[in-house]
Amino acid sequence: MANPSIPLLHWFAREGRDLPWRHTRDPYKIWISEVILQQTRIDQGKAYYERFVARFPTVQALADADTDTLMKYWEGLGYYSRARNLHHTAKVIASEHGGQFPGDYQELLKLKGIGPYTARAVGSMAFDNVTGVLDGNVFRVLSRYLDDFSPIDLPATRHQFQAALDRWLVEAVAETADKQLPGKFNQGMMDLGAMVCTPRNPDCEICPLSQDCLARQRGTVASLPVKSKKLLRKTVWQHFYIIGVKEGFLHVRRRGPTGLWANLWEIPNIEVNEQVWNRADLDGFHLLGAFKHVFTHLDMMIKVYEGDALPVGLPASEGSQMVRISLADIGQLAFSRAVLKIFEQYLKQNSYFQVE
Ligand code: ADE
Repeated sequence: MANPSIPLLHWFAREGRDLPWRHTRDPYKIWISEVILQQTRIDQGKAYYERFVARFPTVQALADADTDTLMKYWEGLGYYSRARNLHHTAKVIASEHGGQFPGDYQELLKLKGIGPYTARAVGSMAFDNVTGVLDGNVFRVLSRYLDDFSPIDLPATRHQFQAALDRWLVEAVAETADKQLPGKFNQGMMDLGAMVCTPRNPDCEICPLSQDCLARQRGTVASLPVKSKKLLRKTVWQHFYIIGVKEGFLHVRRRGPTGLWANLWEIPNIEVNEQVWNRADLDGFHLLGAFKHVFTHLDMMIKVYEGDALPVGLPASEGSQMVRISLADIGQLAFSRAVLKIFEQYLKQNSYFQVE
């Protein structure tokens, strides 16, 4: 199979996206960008990255951060265990590695929150490790380039694709003597998947790999990639309550240390069944609106009510007691994305979302 490295690198030099973490070789900053981008779109991730590295410019600064400030900088990104792992790992690097980020793949893997994907990404972009990075975009490019119908969610396919990437990289580095080739190759693949070899309507006319792309030659591009199983999605129904807002207050509490939205602040909310959720009225409360909040494996149907007193039957919390907080102070606390959406839609106070 033809090695796609050289045409890909030429294309990447011309067309690659100008992204803030591509102006640095600092493994700390590249790590931060990779963790943010694990579950977040580039557009949104860029702003978070810039704010995050401006506030915590070094591993030491992050290690020294207090948890509440850190969570505030992560507020709205979701998957808050990522922020907690970042903090933990920054402390380990500060105390056990003298503040120096390890570059070796096996050493990287020992750090909390760094799995094979992130270890390969940081290793190739910051340390020139000769290893490929396989994300959803790259999977799509590869399955088409190789016209490979192996389901992309099976470990065996992952191994096979990883081996192909690594082999191409070893060959290309030997051929060009360009030490930084692996990082450029990996980011070129990501950009190609995001900009050209897109899920629908890929632009094969401008693709640098089209000449050797087997799916293109065989007319199978639109059928690839293949997945063996669909994600089973669950739906939950939830009521959220804005209480006391007419007096300039909100009732809030901090969630406990485990589970969804661990340690984040929340407004009162109750999981209900579908029938209750569908009922039009709730005594003593005024319905402000409803929307769907989407997680990877879960749809949360949210109805937002306003009232003067807390609802009865509020489940006990592992976290803090409910407290009244002035509307002016909401910006001090870190809330989940779902609650921020509620504020945005129903309180319409942009100042709540500013960090510090
Ligand atoms: N997704 C994950 N890492 C990325 C990077 N370095 N550039 C673009 N997209 C990415």
